[in-house]
Amino acid sequence: MTGPVLITGATGGLGQATARAVAREGHPLLLVVRDLDRGEVLARTLREAAPGLAVSVRRADLADLSSVRALADGLIREDLLPRAVVCNAGLQVVDGIQRSPDGYELTMATNVLGHVALLAPILERMGPGSRVVTIGSETHRGGPRAFGFPAARWTDMATLLRPPPGTPAHPVAGRVRYSTSKLACIALAYGIDARWRGRGVRAVAFDPGLMPETGLARQYPPRPGQPYQQRGERRVGGPDRRGVPDSAADLAWQATAEEAEPLMGRYVSQRRARRSSVASYRSGLGAQIWDACLEAAGVEPTGA
Ligand SMILES: NC(=O)c1ccc[n+]([C@@H]2O[C@H](COP(=O)([O-])OP(=O)(O)OC[C@H]3O[C@@H](n4cnc5c(N)ncnc54)[C@H](OP(=O)(O)O)[C@@H]3O)[C@@H](O)[C@H]2O)c1
Repeated sequence: MTGPVLITGATGGLGQATARAVAREGHPLLLVVRDLDRGEVLARTLREAAPGLAVSVRRADLADLSSVRALADGLIREDLLPRAVVCNAGLQVVDGIQRSPDGYELTMATNVLGHVALLAPILERMGPGSRVVTIGSETHRGGPRAFGFPAARWTDMATLLRPPPGTPAHPVAGRVRYSTSKLACIALAYGIDARWRGRGVRAVAFDPGLMPETGLARQYPPRPGQPYQQRGERRVGGPDRRGVPDSAADLAWQATAEEAEPLMGRYVSQRRARRSSVASYRSGLGAQIWDACLEAAGVEPTGA
């Protein structure tokens, strides 16, 4: 299998650690970042650690459809098609509803829509054996394994992208938007896998576990009672708490290892398939999310 492993959000937390793990295995990399300078610094470090390794850097703001379109067009023009796309970039917005440059709710726009807008033009050009890895989270489930997060509340993608006026600005609503975006990421992997596996392109949803060390909770005020900090940092997360390098090694494996092939089409944690929530298996959900995103992005449906 040729082509680089494309990682979105490669300058931060899990994405950066995954880039390091992929580089250690000797696979070429395509780092998608929103800050080119930081991306180039990372690329230099990776090349120094693995002389001869091909590491490219491209700029894209996943929340901005014109930026994502420019990235996809550039990859096609340069024939720089990935062997794996790791849809890692993500954020939580807890202080009220924020909008993307296109007017969509920022959590859904970044975590879901931007990745569909990137994948749609390149998936049909990716060769057999290629992979898509979306990033899920136990937060989608709510309950005891969700680190204090409220469960996803699914309505439909079009509404979630355009929350109606009067939608509460309370932090809990922001956390629901995040867990719902993670449900969408999981269902999306199921939908992509169902649609593309006939062409040899497989997809999987990866649960990295709880990693309080990353920048994901940057919007939370530093006080007790917040997710990731409840009952003292050390004890949060139980068996689902992971060190970032360990989780990144699993994610790199998921994206590249032959042994991971039997796990494609599933929700995977620590190299084992796990059931995701009942809602995530709803028939046709991934395809609905895909199609609604294409419509929101103004992309013509293509495909298998
Ligand atoms: N941390 C956890 O406990 C946990 C648990 C389950 C799932 N996850 C998932 O893991 C993934 C990585 O998160 P993390 O924990 O590593 O958080 P993080 O440290 O905040 O990293 C997020 C990355 O996404 C990038 N990003 C955010 N918005 C972007 C945009 N509009 N365009 C391009 N890139 C953007 C950030 O870029 P900058 O470097 O420029 O800021 C950063 O590199 C996310 O999908 C998250 O939902 C995390």
